[in-house]
Amino acid sequence: MSRPSATLATRIAAAPKAELHVHIEGALEPELAFALASRNGVPLPYESPEAMRRAYAFTDLQSFLDIYYAAAAVLRTEQDFEDLAWAYLRRAHSDHVVRAEIFFDPQTHTARGVPFETVVRGLSRAIDRGRRELGISAGLIMCFLRHLSEREAFETLERAQAFLPHLLGVGLDSGERGNPPERFRAVFARCRDLGLHAVAHAGEEGPAASISGALDALGVERIDHGVRCLEDAALVARLVRDRIPLTVCPLSNVRLRVCDTLAGHPLPRMLDAGLRASVHSDDPAYFGGYVNENLRACCESLPLTAAHAYTLLRNSLESSFLDAAEIARHVTRLDEVFCTP
Ligand code: ADE
Ligand code: ZN
Repeated sequence: MSRPSATLATRIAAAPKAELHVHIEGALEPELAFALASRNGVPLPYESPEAMRRAYAFTDLQSFLDIYYAAAAVLRTEQDFEDLAWAYLRRAHSDHVVRAEIFFDPQTHTARGVPFETVVRGLSRAIDRGRRELGISAGLIMCFLRHLSEREAFETLERAQAFLPHLLGVGLDSGERGNPPERFRAVFARCRDLGLHAVAHAGEEGPAASISGALDALGVERIDHGVRCLEDAALVARLVRDRIPLTVCPLSNVRLRVCDTLAGHPLPRMLDAGLRASVHSDDPAYFGGYVNENLRACCESLPLTAAHAYTLLRNSLESSFLDAAEIARHVTRLDEVFCTP
């Protein structure tokens, strides 16, 4: 595959973009994990950050989740969550991310005895600082773990009630196989009644039916991943017609073996089908790249044109939960950066 021209690659990197699919726990770089482990006296089963990175040889989603949930044990205090989110926001800012809608997994932390408010207060402090010092806009999406029960999701929502102004929306993540979205119908209905946005991981390892299930049973506004929609032509037609955003994470899909190779990733087919896809990083500390690296690698390995790249960037901004005026302002800037020779 030919390399993108330097100017196209540079324009993509410099363009304003939105990161709509990043798990804050998945932005925990091994160096920070070691610093927090030592600060908190929490053991890590690796000799060094390099050894930790070497352990990232995943065979599927669950093999990744086992390592990811274990590493999250180093996060204990408000300061830890602030440090994690601040490191992420600085890194995102250097990729010209102007808007980040960040997932967090409160149940991973409350199960270890970390209070819900410790997590949200720490993350929110970093978000406030990001707005003040970097001019980056960010919001939090609270994910329910789908391997747990709906009752436990309701308990988490109960804990979140006092912090609703800190939350942009709710999501659904963790192991998709055997955990269909329909199990979370009632808790998502309650969240939508509370005015929260709703998104869900679907069609990553799970079948196309999981995407329809998330739309029908959970009323979600965006699908995270969604790559397996291509297995169902009627579903593709529906997603195109209803302009449902799909937050695609190509490096993640390769590392978790959703796709065999990046060169075989369905992203160009998705765009050519008219699907509203955008590119994101999922768990950048584990999968080898933040959003610009995902875009760069896609342009290098896939037959993506400048028009495809523009569409991906614009879709990221337009699929965000920002208000229309802010989106228009960012799209104007995108046009200046991307379309001016
Ligand atoms: N949690 C963190 N990354 C995830 C992914 N790719 N799929 C499901 N749950 C996740
Ligand atoms: Zn994800």
